[in-house]
Amino acid sequence: MSEEKIVLITGAGIGIGEATALAFAKNNYRVVVTDILEEAGQSTVSKIQDDGGLAEFHYLDVGNTESVNAVFDELESKYGRLESLVNNAGVAHRQPLAELSDDQWDNTINIDLKGMMRTSRAAAGLMSKNGSGSIICLSSIAGADVGWAEHVPYTAAKGGIIGLVKGLAMELAPLAVRVNAVAPGLIRTAQSMSVEHSVGPEGLAAMEPSVPLGRIGVPDDIAQVILFLASEQASYMTGQTLTVDGGLTVAL
Ligand SMILES: NC(=O)c1ccc[n+]([C@@H]2O[C@H](COP(=O)([O-])OP(=O)(O)OC[C@H]3O[C@@H](n4cnc5c(N)ncnc54)[C@H](O)[C@@H]3O)[C@@H](O)[C@H]2O)c1
Repeated sequence: MSEEKIVLITGAGIGIGEATALAFAKNNYRVVVTDILEEAGQSTVSKIQDDGGLAEFHYLDVGNTESVNAVFDELESKYGRLESLVNNAGVAHRQPLAELSDDQWDNTINIDLKGMMRTSRAAAGLMSKNGSGSIICLSSIAGADVGWAEHVPYTAAKGGIIGLVKGLAMELAPLAVRVNAVAPGLIRTAQSMSVEHSVGPEGLAAMEPSVPLGRIGVPDDIAQVILFLASEQASYMTGQTLTVDGGLTVAL
């Protein structure tokens, strides 16, 4: 059995998930790249392999328990262990309250909040066999620090992640599995660049002067903090949410 650490990242085909996959690979992890975007996921794997790293792609829909369990079962029989899980996958949809259907609410909560429980539940069993592990969840300043109009399910899910990591941290501490969250601010990705569902390029440009550190974040700004939370340097941290926003919420 190989000795490199193994990390599974959800939604690792693009954006923050992709940058996180590349950052873990550079730090000698075997990266299990998962996504519902197969082509993008395979492209992340190719980038890692072209750079001499270890990676493989698995289709994993965080909204579906069978899809999640199937990938973790495969990892269990292939490697028998898992050191880190990054719960990155998420969706943000513009949904004014007056038009918000029950199905839309359920869909966002199912992916953005319940999805992180599904993967964490499956990972905890595998990590307990290691004797330790680390789970990192992507929250958001929307939910962790501020509200976001017309994104009530998203804000509720991202706020819920703060409670999720506290609950998981307590239950998994006896297994030496640490659970923390990162709450990004404005990061330039497909999500934030969507005019339909987020702030779009003009919105980002308009908000950039409000960021004390003077720029919109890039995916690697978040990836490096996730890597830190997975590392030995963070071995005494659990149940915490770190806001990574260039100082934006401190200035508000
Ligand atoms: N970009 C930002 O400014 C920002 C700010 C705060 C929080 N976040 C959070 O960070 C995370 C990554 O954001 P991003 O900006 O890179 O988003 P993105 O839209 O660029 O990428 C999201 C990824 O999640 C995947 N995904 C969506 N539904 C899925 C499902 N059901 N199963 C598996 N994968 C699925 C997508 O295919 C994609 O690969 C998200 O949880 C997001 O809410 C982003």
